[in-house]
Amino acid sequence: MWRCVSRGLRIPSRRSTSGGSFSHRFFSSESKAGGSAYTIVDHTYDAVVVGAGGAGLRAAIGLSEHGFNTACITKLFPTRSHTVAAQGGINAALGNMTEDDWRWHMYDTVKGSDWLGDQDAIQYMCREAPKAVIELENYGLPFSRTEEGKIYQRAFGGQSLDFGKGGQAYRCACAADRTGHALLHTLYGQAMKHNTQFFVEYFALDLIMGSDGSCQGVIALNMEDGTLHRFRASSTILATGGYGRAYFSATSAHTCTGDGNAMVARAGLPLEDLEFVQFHPTGIYGAGCLITEGSRGEGGILRNSEGERFMERYAPTAKDLASRDVVSRSMTMEIREGRGVGPMKDHIYLHLNHLPPEVLKERLPGISETAAIFAGVDVTKQPIPVLPTVHYNMGGIPTNYHGEVVTIKGSDPDAVVPGLMAAGEAACASVHGANRLGANSLLDIVVFGRACANRVAEIHRPGETQKPLPKDAGEKTIAWLDKIRNSNGSLPTSKIRLNMQRIMQNNAAVFRTQETLEEGCNLIDKAWESYHDVKLKDRTLIWNSDLLETIELENLLINACITMHSAEARKESRGAHAREDFTKRDDENWMKHTLGYWENEKVRLDYRPVHMNTLDDEVETFPPKARVY
Ligand code: FUM
Repeated sequence: MWRCVSRGLRIPSRRSTSGGSFSHRFFSSESKAGGSAYTIVDHTYDAVVVGAGGAGLRAAIGLSEHGFNTACITKLFPTRSHTVAAQGGINAALGNMTEDDWRWHMYDTVKGSDWLGDQDAIQYMCREAPKAVIELENYGLPFSRTEEGKIYQRAFGGQSLDFGKGGQAYRCACAADRTGHALLHTLYGQAMKHNTQFFVEYFALDLIMGSDGSCQGVIALNMEDGTLHRFRASSTILATGGYGRAYFSATSAHTCTGDGNAMVARAGLPLEDLEFVQFHPTGIYGAGCLITEGSRGEGGILRNSEGERFMERYAPTAKDLASRDVVSRSMTMEIREGRGVGPMKDHIYLHLNHLPPEVLKERLPGISETAAIFAGVDVTKQPIPVLPTVHYNMGGIPTNYHGEVVTIKGSDPDAVVPGLMAAGEAACASVHGANRLGANSLLDIVVFGRACANRVAEIHRPGETQKPLPKDAGEKTIAWLDKIRNSNGSLPTSKIRLNMQRIMQNNAAVFRTQETLEEGCNLIDKAWESYHDVKLKDRTLIWNSDLLETIELENLLINACITMHSAEARKESRGAHAREDFTKRDDENWMKHTLGYWENEKVRLDYRPVHMNTLDDEVETFPPKARVY
């Protein structure tokens, strides 16, 4: 029998900064599960942020600025978070290239969401956008510049002027095609200036919920030494990113495993609108790496095997810069109708070779390199082979525009879960609705990370007394962890994961039918069952990647099951959810958010209304209409 010897109190590895006092409290104890002893270290903070991508860092910075004693727990070193991979930029109506207005940005975002987005939250995000970008500039983000030294803004998909009547908008502020990299490093630098305490390479396992339904913190595993850590906090902010790795081919990092979503689901709370999975039109064929939409913003063109610029047929006005769901579907249609390129006619070409080499060098250096490495292509001479690839989860943990997690309670569809917040791709505010516009994600993370911190400052005071944790806090989680660690079935984690990824890729694809979705539900439920037969070879607690990957697999499977069942239930086409058997949007029956619960290892669905209201009279609600580009 494996036995973890308690090593008593241990100060966790912290990456702290200059200034400020370090004043969190911690105690250690021991717990036994399945005959193994686990060291538990207790901490108390005002606030705990889980995740150190853009949303987590922006929340942590704001909390520290407001004087809250803040812990940031992250399974990765912060600058390895997936925000680093964002390329194209961040939308804001700065008006640096043409006249612009945040209301036009709001209109585009509501339309892009196919009227599933909550208009109060969209108003909040678009109105805050210019301030958020200027704040990043002041933090030191090295934006690309115009001749006059203003922040350069490029064209991006689905962005228009004058409520769709004024042509293409140039609204996407960028740092060449490495905007996420620049943003993440800038925010990490700012976090270093404040008193945020980082717990790096700590894997958050579960929420700690009180008997009154409030969240009192999280329990996490120190990946380095196997100690368990209970973080008690008045406010817990989940910024854990998406779950793109539920699919076989994704632009997402291997670490995008929906951990926060799964923690919420295990706590009996719902996940919202998971059926809306974004396929980015231009993942490199085979490798899946992202080629930014900014390449089409700079003039890149998609062509089929006949050399035709086919987007002119599908979106006569916006063409290659129609919204992503529209472009991905058009590419898929071209391939299905036999006009794909390559020996198997199963992909499309993205041409940049007509662009001036100096534009490629200055504005698109990152993807020029990526195309050379992963497709063997010199973009100045050859087209890049591309294919729609899973890129983003519009759905996630339901929140209001303050970042507070909400659920249905009695007749209230917007009941706040006290103590629990979420921001970024993990959250569903819902600003993206059924389809996110490119470059609204970097915006979402900074606006709602900051909103979370501001909300905490409105309802809490630094250092306020907290309720004691429930006596059995974390016990169920430790038993669960122990069970996984000692799993001795017949299937390796990798085999179950691959099966799940193939099911999601085939059955919850760009186009969906009742048949593929019903089959998908059946197969994904079986994949979940097969998980009970998982086998781990490594039973230690020190850097046990076998264990961590298995926890990540469980998290992915929960997200995958809810995604498939939510998609099967929604009998309409809206945004990224394109059904061949229900080809129209059905506002009468389906203008509502799906809520997916994970109960007794099965999916249960419910629904809540879309917010059609705005925050005030600075802008009027945009009523639903046909969505054409
Ligand atoms: O194409 C891109 O650069 C991706 C941007 C985004 O998803 O926001």
